[in-house]
Amino acid sequence: MKLVIENLTCAFGGFRAVDEVSFEAESGGLVGVIGPNGAGKSTLFSLITGFLAGQGGTVRLDGHDISALPPHERARAGMVRTFQVPKEFAHLTVRENLMAAAPNQSGENLVDLFLRPAAIRREESAIAARVDDTIAFLKLGAVADVPSGKLSGGQKKLLELGRVLMTRPKLILLDEPFAGVNPVLIEEISGHIRALNADGIGFIIIEHDLGALSRLAGALHVMDRGRLIASGAPGEVLKRANVREAYLGGAA
Ligand SMILES: Nc1ncnc2c1ncn2[C@@H]1O[C@H](COP(=O)(O)OP(=O)(O)O)[C@@H](O)[C@H]1O
Ligand SMILES: [Mg+2]
Repeated sequence: MKLVIENLTCAFGGFRAVDEVSFEAESGGLVGVIGPNGAGKSTLFSLITGFLAGQGGTVRLDGHDISALPPHERARAGMVRTFQVPKEFAHLTVRENLMAAAPNQSGENLVDLFLRPAAIRREESAIAARVDDTIAFLKLGAVADVPSGKLSGGQKKLLELGRVLMTRPKLILLDEPFAGVNPVLIEEISGHIRALNADGIGFIIIEHDLGALSRLAGALHVMDRGRLIASGAPGEVLKRANVREAYLGGAA
């Protein structure tokens, strides 16, 4: 699956948080988006996935213009995101959160409920099996029945990844998957991302941990004040004067 964004723009009042950003990403690829705080990275993800409408530009998936589709239809098309602040249901267990993340099922349709109970049972057991697989893959077995509000920051990031995996995505947008995660778990999450990527799932990853991101990503896009200021191989992009300047400016 190929994602092409062109001239995406989002203004809050007169302030352009995202200003004419264009790039491409594919399932099978793994690209990073970096930039100082407030550069517009999370807003860009919201534009790509339909959580914000913005003021212009187009989002195309495999040549189809999906710019007007709501988030759940973009998810059904195979493109999903996580949020910088995890959005799990704190009172539900890990297992229940994963069940709830499965795409809308026919069991919610009353006609099916009465006329096709066997089909619904089959579907429910298929979801339960997928939840079990996801728990095993992410090694969340020890906390599967723990309310997710009790998880560590890193475990919540793992659950976020699990929730998007329940939708069988082709392209996953991760917003700071390593923030607040200890180094051991960062390596573990990186391993899961590599394995999924080797299976053909594409990733676009916003991350401040440039070391961990550079080990994963084939290319980086750098944002500063809403604009894309550099794109290319991590080692090369991070050496550029304007990129270093943007980071120093952002820290000041
Ligand atoms: N809903 C909003 N209303 C007003 N300003 C916003 C909103 N969301 C983000 N911003 C502003 O847009 C800029 C970019 O934010 P964001 O995309 O979260 O940056 P990043 O993820 O790169 O840190 C920031 O200045 C932020 O304050
Ligand atoms: Mg952000």
